[in-house]
Amino acid sequence: MNRVEFLYLSQQEVIECGGLDMAKTIEDLEEVFKLHHKGDTVVPAKVALRWGDIHSEETRGRINAMPGHVGGNVDVSGIKWIASAPQNPIKYRMPRASALTILNDPYQGFPLCVMDGTVISAMRTGGVTGVAAKYLAIKDSRVVGLIGAGTQNRTQLMALKEVLPHLARVKVYDLRKERSEAFIESAREYVQVDMTVADTAEEAVTGSDVVVSATTAKAPIIKGEWVKEGMFIANVGGYETEFDALKKADKIVVDDWYQVKHRGTQTTAIMFNQGLLTDQDIYAELGAVVSGDRPGREKERELVFFNPVGMGIEDIIVASRIYRTARVKGMGTTLKLWDSPLWF
Ligand SMILES: NC(=O)c1ccc[n+]([C@@H]2O[C@H](COP(=O)([O-])OP(=O)(O)OC[C@H]3O[C@@H](n4cnc5c(N)ncnc54)[C@H](O)[C@@H]3O)[C@@H](O)[C@H]2O)c1
Repeated sequence: MNRVEFLYLSQQEVIECGGLDMAKTIEDLEEVFKLHHKGDTVVPAKVALRWGDIHSEETRGRINAMPGHVGGNVDVSGIKWIASAPQNPIKYRMPRASALTILNDPYQGFPLCVMDGTVISAMRTGGVTGVAAKYLAIKDSRVVGLIGAGTQNRTQLMALKEVLPHLARVKVYDLRKERSEAFIESAREYVQVDMTVADTAEEAVTGSDVVVSATTAKAPIIKGEWVKEGMFIANVGGYETEFDALKKADKIVVDDWYQVKHRGTQTTAIMFNQGLLTDQDIYAELGAVVSGDRPGREKERELVFFNPVGMGIEDIIVASRIYRTARVKGMGTTLKLWDSPLWF
């Protein structure tokens, strides 16, 4: 018998195996950024399946294929296959993003685990900003401005709470006020700070130490005149920051500059394509900062702009922790690929 089996983990099982543990997610991500910086990861370019031009992603949606390999002690390959249907939350009361993640043995290639990737994806997206804020935001940042009251900003806030011990105030702006209100209501479960709805994006940005935009906006929101020295701004969604705001940054940090340019949807990539930004304008990739090869924030007055585009390796490192936990706990459903292979 040359049976091949793999584990299946539902979203609930992912959660029971530590899927909502933000401290551990941040630890995983610091590790993966160090490996990325050392060249001990493989990050093939993201493939976007869409049914129209690039703008159709904002209305009709897309499905992204995000493969990767994480080396070091993790030594696992895999892929996240993640759909985005922007109308889902409003039209169907369902999440915009839904994902399956597959882990593979990098030597024989066989699948190890197929699992819900939705929770992991949101947690790792928050966690990436958490790692960045730890090195690039003012240490005693107190005020956070969130633009977008969706799933991603929920985990952005979970992560910021982990790394900003002085967090005292959160302002939330969304095009739909009721989304901001519902966001604050449910965020009270995990963040006990003063949280208010901002009536405008300007109100959310002005006076904030940390600003995160994670929206499905179709045009930029953050204006140059609102951003000030000392801020840490993370542009997590697409084209959310005006060119003028980016031009004021003292440091531009990305997760992976090649991937940002390849995807081409965010402010940095759009400016690059228009000849308004060069490779030399990118201060560092996050891995260089986490590894200590490039200093993070050096002055209180620096304006730091962070642009994560997202990489499959971030999902894979978190998914591999969940998988190992499931094995130890004996959780999940074992599925069979074959008893013995038909051909070899
Ligand atoms: N960089 C990454 O690694 C990464 C990872 C996951 C998701 N994302 C991106 O993050 C964004 C948000 O994802 P989500 O899952 O939170 O989506 P979501 O649909 O749950 O929430 C998006 C929110 O943005 C609001 N919004 C839309 N236009 C706006 C505007 N102009 N001003 C203010 N609010 C506006 C919507 O009303 C909605 O509440 C998406 O663009 C997604 O592609 C990035």
